Amino acid sequence: MSLRLLTFFGVCLLAACSTQDAMPTAQEGEALFATNCAACHGYRGEGGELVGGQSAPDLTMIAARNDGVFPRAYVLSRIDGYEHREMSGQVMPEFGAMMLDPEMVPLVVDGVQTPTPRPMVALMLYLEEIQVSE
Ligand code: HEC
Repeated sequence: MSLRLLTFFGVCLLAACSTQDAMPTAQEGEALFATNCAACHGYRGEGGELVGGQSAPDLTMIAARNDGVFPRAYVLSRIDGYEHREMSGQVMPEFGAMMLDPEMVPLVVDGVQTPTPRPMVALMLYLEEIQVSE
């Protein structure tokens, strides 16, 4: 490959990696939440009773339940369904499959930049935004 071509690809890679708007917004997550999650967790994430006597937790209190810290890794694993598989009798569906072959975006989880499916990041940013303190 010629040096000029190499330089061209190098510039493209840099441009792609440094584009800020490649990150989804909380608004993008809000739309995904309305479609996939609100039926159980409520339109504002406030939780509520489900058919069959079960209830969906209030998702605005995740940080409050965790000493005021929003646990990104935990929330991502709950949406993905990874943690779910280790418990039995849980009613929340796994959304990992919905995220197959998505665009990956760099998300900082526990101080480490982690390539994460874009819809998961959007949902997580939305949940992070709707946290209330009490
Ligand atoms: C069929 C109903 C249902 C749907 C749809 C659903 N959930 Fe849930 N979710 C639950 C229930 C019930 C729990 C608590 C029991 C459990 O862990 O499975 C839960 C737990 C969670 C938790 C853990 C909360 C905590 O504090 O431990 C998160 C985060 C969550 N859901 C996010 C989502 C997101 C985001 C979506 C949409 C992509 C979604 N849920 C869709 C029923 C649902």
